[in-house]
Amino acid sequence: MNMDQLKRQAAARALEEVRDGMQLGLGTGSTAKHFVELLGERVAAGLKVIGVPTSEATRLDATRCGVPLTTLDEIDHLDITVDGADEIDPALNLIKGGGGALLREKIVAAASDRMIVIADDSKWVPTLGKFPLPVEVIPFGLGATRRAIEKAFAECGVSGQMAVRKGKDGHVFVTDGGHWIVDAQLGRIEDPASLAKALSAIPGVVEHGLFIGLASSAVLAGGEGIRVIE
Ligand code: 5RP
Repeated sequence: MNMDQLKRQAAARALEEVRDGMQLGLGTGSTAKHFVELLGERVAAGLKVIGVPTSEATRLDATRCGVPLTTLDEIDHLDITVDGADEIDPALNLIKGGGGALLREKIVAAASDRMIVIADDSKWVPTLGKFPLPVEVIPFGLGATRRAIEKAFAECGVSGQMAVRKGKDGHVFVTDGGHWIVDAQLGRIEDPASLAKALSAIPGVVEHGLFIGLASSAVLAGGEGIRVIE
């Protein structure tokens, strides 16, 4: 089974948790896209749900798949968010934001009763940090913000190169919120909760890709089958 088939399997397993009438957060990325497509098939067959997309890309996918959409201004909570991740550790802490949607993803996950992470099992790691940590920043004053981020890294015992993310066209990648992303190659993050707190305290940081205590379960698809971790 190839990687894409594993992602679809994880998405299908998460779909088993969805019930009629639920309000759903719809994640971003190639794995979450499988979930949106499978959900669209169930909606076409009569399932009644409503979704809040975590990116403009997911909004387009959901619309194409016939999934009705709403916003967090119109409803007051979500039952389940189903989203992918770039890394998942045994405490279900995550690195997210490889697709650049971390800000909306975190807002939506935080408004949800449950967050189910779906992934192929290559995303399962003993310690977060091999995947570059995305930090969403305001372009204004970026030099000062970068220095503050470096200071936070040093205080939390990590260090590594930082680079402003570029898109495929070679230009600076701009998020759905109009911000930039700095990717930090940290290698190993021993205390992700402390680092998350330190980054959140920096004025030019809009959000970062450490999702601490937000995921309630992870559905991991691998060669040996599906594992659900809670
Ligand atoms: C987007 C994300 C994605 O969930 C993450 O990058 C995983 O993507 P994929 O399912 O394509 O591997 O955080 O911001």
